[in-house]
Amino acid sequence: MADAYILGIESSCDETAAAVVRSGEQVVSNIVFSQIAAHRPYGGVVPELASREHLKAIVPVVRKALADAGQTYQSIDALAVTQGPGLAGALLVGISYAKAVAFVLDKPLIAVNHLEGHIHAVLLEERQKNNREMKFPLLALVVSGGHTHLYLAEQRGNAWSYKNIGHTRDDAAGEAFDKVAKLLGLGYPGGPIIDKLSAHGDPTAVRFPPSQLKHRDRKDKGNSGPEPRFDFSYSGIKTAVLRYVEVHNMQASIEARRKALVEIEKPGLEAYLLHCDKKTLNLVASFQRAIVEDLVTKTLAAARACDVATLFVTGGVAANHELRQRFEQDAAREGLPVYFPSRPLSTDNAAMIAAAAYPRFMAGDFAAEDFSADAALKL
Ligand code: KG4
Ligand code: ZN
Repeated sequence: MADAYILGIESSCDETAAAVVRSGEQVVSNIVFSQIAAHRPYGGVVPELASREHLKAIVPVVRKALADAGQTYQSIDALAVTQGPGLAGALLVGISYAKAVAFVLDKPLIAVNHLEGHIHAVLLEERQKNNREMKFPLLALVVSGGHTHLYLAEQRGNAWSYKNIGHTRDDAAGEAFDKVAKLLGLGYPGGPIIDKLSAHGDPTAVRFPPSQLKHRDRKDKGNSGPEPRFDFSYSGIKTAVLRYVEVHNMQASIEARRKALVEIEKPGLEAYLLHCDKKTLNLVASFQRAIVEDLVTKTLAAARACDVATLFVTGGVAANHELRQRFEQDAAREGLPVYFPSRPLSTDNAAMIAAAAYPRFMAGDFAAEDFSADAALKL
């Protein structure tokens, strides 16, 4: 079988990304244009602004991905684009562009679920390292700004299937990082800065009660089977941080920090440390410890219950240093191999979209001409 070069396009949130991947196993080029600077003044992603930024970036980003790969629009074998989940207007920019190119050049187009993409980021990089022997059953934790999901993944020939055995009932883990960072005047996005600051605080200083889910998910009507579920909840810890801030009268110092950091164009760790007292650093480290503890404990409980042979941890929050360390340590103790994407492929990118499309390309499973964005697409 000759090599297949797939051009992937991703625009579901605040990254405009394009990449060329060879046969689902080699990243040939990978361009990510982050809109963080545009959204930072608002402390989060503004959907309207995201669509506009994607429109500005899509053509140069795709051109750069093709040029870096030594490919052209004509030479690629297929296009792949994120169909959802994500922001509808943002998704539509990538989809409209991919459809137009596929139509004009008469190339196959493959629609990819963003969450499946995060799982294939791991598979892609393992194949790149020549590790082709994944043992099943395989459990994947997809943990990002929009999602906290546990999937059992299966492969039959070219077809992958996924069964959701856990999800967040409220906020995603990355969303909790972002909201707590905003609350503490640390700016956007919160994950990377909380990750760095946590190393400077005492993670045992503040105790957060573990999240408890006493009831079945009422929204989860289709999934009321006998199998156990491993759901998450992160809105409680955000409220607990807010209460801590109020009880300890931290508002004035938070406001001072917010004002000071806004003045600095790209604040580095030193600037953050200069504006964070011990109490704040301890709070941040304790918050991160609680989230990591919860993610690791629940995921490993699910792994045990389903007797899985392999664990994947992927998505933006998988870039977190403490999370990786804890998973590596605790999974090793249970003799469970755990795989992460490299940090650049943990957060949103298009290489994972092109990789997830490859089995579909091989199976001839192409998008219908009238397919459109699906903001709430399930996996
Ligand atoms: O996968 P991603 O780029 O986009 C979504 O699909 O949501 O994930 C972005 C999320 C943000 O919430 C960001 O704060 C979080 O991932 N994140 C991190 C780290 N780097 C990014 N969270 C914790 N530690 C990090 N190092
Ligand atoms: Zn993502």
